[in-house]
Amino acid sequence: MTEPEPAAGQPASPLAPPGIDTTVAHPARMLNYVLGGTANFPVDREAAERRLEVLPGWRTSAQQNRQFHARAIRLLAGTGITQFLDIGAGLPAADTVHGIAQAVNPACRVAYVDNDPLVLVHARTLPPSRPEGRVSYSQADLREPDRILADPGVRGTLDLSQPVALMLLAVLHFIPDADDPAGLVRTLLAALPAGSYLVASHPTQDFDLVRGEQATQAGNRAGVPVWLRTRAEFTGFFAGLGLLDPGVVLVSDWRPDPGQPRPDPRLVTCYGAVARQPC
Ligand SMILES: C[S@@+](CC[C@H](N)C(=O)[O-])C[C@H]1O[C@@H](n2cnc3c(N)ncnc32)[C@H](O)[C@@H]1O
Repeated sequence: MTEPEPAAGQPASPLAPPGIDTTVAHPARMLNYVLGGTANFPVDREAAERRLEVLPGWRTSAQQNRQFHARAIRLLAGTGITQFLDIGAGLPAADTVHGIAQAVNPACRVAYVDNDPLVLVHARTLPPSRPEGRVSYSQADLREPDRILADPGVRGTLDLSQPVALMLLAVLHFIPDADDPAGLVRTLLAALPAGSYLVASHPTQDFDLVRGEQATQAGNRAGVPVWLRTRAEFTGFFAGLGLLDPGVVLVSDWRPDPGQPRPDPRLVTCYGAVARQPC
């Protein structure tokens, strides 16, 4: 497959490996573009630019989400969690889960899962696991939790009899209510022992209904439909779990680092929370 030339001034893209459709925008590559990466194609950049037109805070939101994810990983790795199952992992640049976790404890193990085949290709460009730990990349869909739990990469990396941090960062909004996202989360957590954690984030329209609706429409037009959810709807994903302080808040308000600037909530528009699976 020949990759189209990038538009003038746009970053270069990776060569498109066989099996990767570069004619349809994909959320992982759109986000990669917004965060300054090069693992994206013209169709992704165009869809991302259209979304940025209606949602100018998207870049701020994506950056804040990544910072939330880093703070949560550091906290959990620091309290003894050594296993991370990151579903909807995306195409990170520097701040990989294993890079952050293994800086705290080199023995940490991370199983990355995403439904975009480019994620597996991109993984080859990422820093490797520390020798004491382990990292795997699997292509699978969140809507098939049993397949994820049985995936050889996941099983070869994680011991599911020991606590795991289930990471669902900015991915649940790609799952419509009709596919029962809360049920998918329950199925995944049911396979994990007490002391496991759920780390999740989710875009919302709570702070700007008009822009939220425009973003939803832009996603539909780009072929990447999204389902923004309210605080109450997002909180429902944590039913039966023990929420860590400060509970469900904007990602920028979740245990911010000292001195960290707090952007306007209308730019962040993404909730985050961390919760523990009780005994
Ligand atoms: C917005 S990105 C978030 C990436 C990363 N978790 C973060 O927070 O920066 C959403 C990711 O979820 C993946 N994704 C979307 N729908 C999915 C599904 N049904 N199953 C697995 N991954 C999915 C996309 O390919 C993309 O990599």
